[in-house]
Amino acid sequence: MKRKLFVATLCASMVVGMVAAPASVKAEESKGLIGVAMPTQDLQRWNQDGENMKKELESKGYEVDLQFAGNDVATQVSQIENMIANGDQLLVIASIEGDSLGTVLAQAKEAEIPVISYDRLIMNTDAVSYYATFDNYLVGKTQGQFLVDALDLDNQDGPFNIEFVTGDPGDNNVNFFFGGAMDVLQPYIDAGKLVCPSGQMTKDEVATANWATETAQARFENILSSYYADGTNLDAVLASNDSTALGVENALAANYTGEYPIITGQDCDIANMPNIIDGKQAMSVFKDTRTLASKVVEMVDAIMQGGEAPVNDTETYDNGTGVIPSYLCEPVAVTVDNYKEMLVDSGYYTEDQLQ
Ligand code: BGC
Repeated sequence: MKRKLFVATLCASMVVGMVAAPASVKAEESKGLIGVAMPTQDLQRWNQDGENMKKELESKGYEVDLQFAGNDVATQVSQIENMIANGDQLLVIASIEGDSLGTVLAQAKEAEIPVISYDRLIMNTDAVSYYATFDNYLVGKTQGQFLVDALDLDNQDGPFNIEFVTGDPGDNNVNFFFGGAMDVLQPYIDAGKLVCPSGQMTKDEVATANWATETAQARFENILSSYYADGTNLDAVLASNDSTALGVENALAANYTGEYPIITGQDCDIANMPNIIDGKQAMSVFKDTRTLASKVVEMVDAIMQGGEAPVNDTETYDNGTGVIPSYLCEPVAVTVDNYKEMLVDSGYYTEDQLQ
């Protein structure tokens, strides 16, 4: 019976397709058109985020307009303009640069299209209805605390040598990742237990444009040749995510022979997993993109049904126009000891992908 129905539906839609009148049929079938704007396909996570959301939204009956902007702000702006012009009814946006979407989102607001800021907070526009992300401050604190524990800083005097690498300065998350880590590490720097031989310790000095591996690698090669070529030991590197950590690890592989440092990361990118398994990256912060995508789909569905989206934080994320009601998912530290349980047993990766 089921099968017959399916065949009948299929034939009907084929006929409709041939007489070229699919739009009204689609509108009747679909619960609405959702625009999903992701920053780039260059980094693993945004592909996963985008695909997970598309799959889940479609399974709930929505149509999805998924776009990637190649890390180019002008491209992202024009993709969003098109989404508005095409009648998208809700926008989910992971921005490239938090400050660059004010003008286009004013159009969205004018058209009464709700906007969910995805993972990265969109700044200085009152067009953002909700924010869905991981607890970014906790990501930074987790990385900082990992270094404190690994170096046993509460019991050892050191001094230990540390260097810092964070992400794109236009990504508001950097303030939370780097800020959270520094809130944990600063007391040990003040006590002289942690020393930074390059002296590069401000957010701007340690930033990496576009979070690019090659940019982090080039900066780190300079640091190694300028401050460590005389045999000075590097004990730790605070890297805010995996793409930048990989740049550090590449630079170390080619230019450093001292005792290997403790390096942090974030995302559990496939490219970093061999280094985590081999002990060349001590940890990564796992942010299960499936969880965030599911939460956002729940939020979209609630808004599209005329209700309020679920939130669990109404204090932390002020985008310059006021606090944006947020849903924060929980990040988890992953090391060689728990990666199997967290990543393989949970179905996030297959064992084969990590070989
Ligand atoms: C995300 C991180 C990611 C970075 C680079 C940040 O906004 O929160 O998970 O590593 O962007 O794509």
